[in-house]
Amino acid sequence: MSLDIQESVPLAEFTTFKIGGEARFFVSAQSEIEIIEALRFAEKNKLEVFILGGGSNLLIADEGFDGLVLQISLKGILFGAEASLPAINNGLARKNETLVTARAGENWEEFVAFCIEKNLAGLECLSGIPGFVGGTPVQNVGAYGQEVSETIVSVRCFDRNAKKIVEMTNAECEFAYRTSIFNTTYINRFVVLGVTYALKYDGEPKIVYKDLQNYFNGKKPNLQETRHAVLNIRSDKSMVINKNDPNSNSAGSFFKNPIVDLKKFAKIKQTAKNMGASEVPSYSVNTNKIKIPAAWLIEKSGFYKGFLFGEVGISTKHTLAIVNFGNAKASDVICLKNKIQRKVKEKFDVTLKPEPVFIGFKDLQKHD
Ligand code: EPU
Repeated sequence: MSLDIQESVPLAEFTTFKIGGEARFFVSAQSEIEIIEALRFAEKNKLEVFILGGGSNLLIADEGFDGLVLQISLKGILFGAEASLPAINNGLARKNETLVTARAGENWEEFVAFCIEKNLAGLECLSGIPGFVGGTPVQNVGAYGQEVSETIVSVRCFDRNAKKIVEMTNAECEFAYRTSIFNTTYINRFVVLGVTYALKYDGEPKIVYKDLQNYFNGKKPNLQETRHAVLNIRSDKSMVINKNDPNSNSAGSFFKNPIVDLKKFAKIKQTAKNMGASEVPSYSVNTNKIKIPAAWLIEKSGFYKGFLFGEVGISTKHTLAIVNFGNAKASDVICLKNKIQRKVKEKFDVTLKPEPVFIGFKDLQKHD
């Protein structure tokens, strides 16, 4: 079967932002062989490659992408002994845990729902997050006190340098807050094909985040109840995609929550005090690092929920989400991004780092 290579494919519909121009070439790969063939085509034609998953953490330039967009459409979920034999053979399987392997193109939210139906714990706090399984190790997806790094055993990848399939262990992925080797040291080198998670049958849900604790107010929920609580909390913040919600055309959190040292934290507290703000919300990362909600910094820098800037703006329910409220262009989003970053830097001397991946842009500063 020959590879279906399409040309001039509009990309906006592949993203939750609903923004972006065309891909010069586009392949939706249904098998590992098709992925390898598509990469060969790109190499032969000296094309840049962008690996597309669920498009939920992505901003594509209005000019589009002058290369090959390779969408990973690998489907399938394997359980127990069937799941990732290499992981078992390498002794990576952990006691009392069920290994579940999902191929990279599985819808994440459906996969989480499926695992919870099977009474498997470990992913319940990650309910309602848009995107594909393959994206989860890349940015170490996390929410409500849980990160995929806690359950990932191994990641099956195609190594574009060595031109072979490899199984990366959890340690080799070097997970940290919103990062892994896949989006740092070895960006663009590995194509994620599947991910193996170690989940606990009949395990306890993880209730550590304040919002979740408040929701249950001391009661002990089961996995299904925890999932519903997370979905409710996320929905209240317009962080669950819903066609009828005008806040939905976004990439979720647009900035990472900055991690600062104690000295910087003291300065931020002083600035806040001078402004008359009572307390700076914060989470301790370790003895000398503090994470501060970017949403709070943005609000205190003069922005607010529902802030409009032409066709883009800030979600009416959560200050961390930039939203396409109509027919926004990528350049409008970049303009607002730059404006927010400048104000937060001016006010708190903190540089906010965007969470989404930017594709096809030549100069992110030129949109001011
Ligand atoms: N806050 C505001 N204004 C807002 C919203 C929040 O000031 O409009 C402040 C409040 O102090 C609040 C704090 O920010 O207590 C934290 O807010 P929230 O619980 O909504 O979490 P977040 O820090 O904004 C992070 C993740 C989300 C994840 C939530 C819950 C990042 C970049 N984002 O957001 O990640 O769902 O925590 O754990 O780390 C996602 O964005 O889709 C996501 C999965």
